[in-house]
Amino acid sequence: MPNRFSGFYKLTPKERLLIVAKEANLSSEEVDELYKTGSLDTDLAGKLVENVISTLEIPVGIVPNFIVNGKSYFVPMAIEEASVVAACSNSSRIANESGGFIAESSDPVMIGQIQLINVNDPERTIDDIQKVREEILNVANSRSRTLKKLNAGAKDIRTRVLNDPGRSVLLEIYVDVRDAMGANIINSMCESVASFLMGQFNIETNLRILSNLTPNRVTKSRAVFKSDMIGGSEVSKRIVKAFEMANVDPFRAATHNKGIMNGIDAVLLATLNDWRAAEANAHTYYHVSGNLSLSKYYLDDSENLVGEIEIPLAVGTVGGSTNSVRKAAIFRKILNIGDSREFSNVLASIGLAQNFAALRALCSEGIQEGHMRLHARSIAASVGATGEMIEAISKIMIEEKDISMSRAASLYDEMRKKN
Ligand code: HMG
Repeated sequence: MPNRFSGFYKLTPKERLLIVAKEANLSSEEVDELYKTGSLDTDLAGKLVENVISTLEIPVGIVPNFIVNGKSYFVPMAIEEASVVAACSNSSRIANESGGFIAESSDPVMIGQIQLINVNDPERTIDDIQKVREEILNVANSRSRTLKKLNAGAKDIRTRVLNDPGRSVLLEIYVDVRDAMGANIINSMCESVASFLMGQFNIETNLRILSNLTPNRVTKSRAVFKSDMIGGSEVSKRIVKAFEMANVDPFRAATHNKGIMNGIDAVLLATLNDWRAAEANAHTYYHVSGNLSLSKYYLDDSENLVGEIEIPLAVGTVGGSTNSVRKAAIFRKILNIGDSREFSNVLASIGLAQNFAALRALCSEGIQEGHMRLHARSIAASVGATGEMIEAISKIMIEEKDISMSRAASLYDEMRKKN
């Protein structure tokens, strides 16, 4: 399938922005907003978090024509690390040859936890709680009219005795949060249910909070990468071997999964979603599942490489701070996702895309070639170079295969003296 956006990266930022603006139907005000820097007013920032003194700018790049379930997305990624956007664009180009990524997400069910402490008779307390199951669900659901209207909200409870020294009892509430991330609503449900329980029984509650581990809110994505586009089936076989190592060795798994989160976090940051929750969720999920790698790879009958990812994702398309910062709202508009499951489908797929790109490079020419080539510009900028000098210094470093701060600094000095 021909890529309409081939060579997108060769354009200037303004040219790229105008293409995205046309495709995403942005107004001229929205385009101006995106083009200028410093658009998050420090006073507004002071309303979002505490003790504000300034704001921080992070580059936002676009992965064009990222196809998931047959729909083409412009994916915004906020990231300081060179080559991640290029990597995802490269994977997307390869996956698109086989129809792009195919993804699906489960119902958005999250868990709220209430810890009961100093319990004399844990089994009896569990019996008591189970007897008022319906009341607990009603109390929880009284906290959200919206979820009730959507036939979502608290659906079930589970109880168990914990293995902690004090034998706490744990009550867990299972909540379908639809398109919310879920933290606020679940926390208020937990607090209300805890008050209800303390009123009903002579018990003491301690923690009342959502769990950021969401094994019931999981997304799967899959793509086929044609072996003849990645250096042949030998490279595909090496990628399978790389996955097999990541799945058993925690030291490799941390790096392998970091590559996946490079992609996911960058989209979460561009749309101002909670990437710390996504990190905690993903890493704990693989820790308890026994599989160390969040992705897996195998060859199909035609010796093409199949990549799959299964990752818990709790992201919202309503609520949170996504709309309080105008640029984040515009990036959401560019991404053009409907509900939270569609959002998760794109996120899981971008994680797989970044992972595949890194593995392809690692299993063939090595990561330094592509990554460091792109990183060279950022090294040149960090020693003080600006404008055309950045390109000139990075070009020489790439040719010399010496991409380092010291070489950049000496080239910068030489060029300044000459000018
Ligand atoms: P290449 O094959 O030299 O590039 O790859 P190309 O010039 O043939 O272009 C191919 C496509 O790549 C282009 O398609 C673009 O989509 C994209 P086209 O537009 O021509 O139809 N592309 C770019 N996009 C944006 N800006 C660019 C650019 N260049 C190409 N400048 C590439 C070059 C860097 C893409 C490749 O070497 C690559 O994918 N390398 C992997 C880089 C990577 O994974 N970086 C992530 C950070 S490192 C990481 O994840 C941590 C790690 O530790 C994880 C782990 O260990 O698993 C590695």
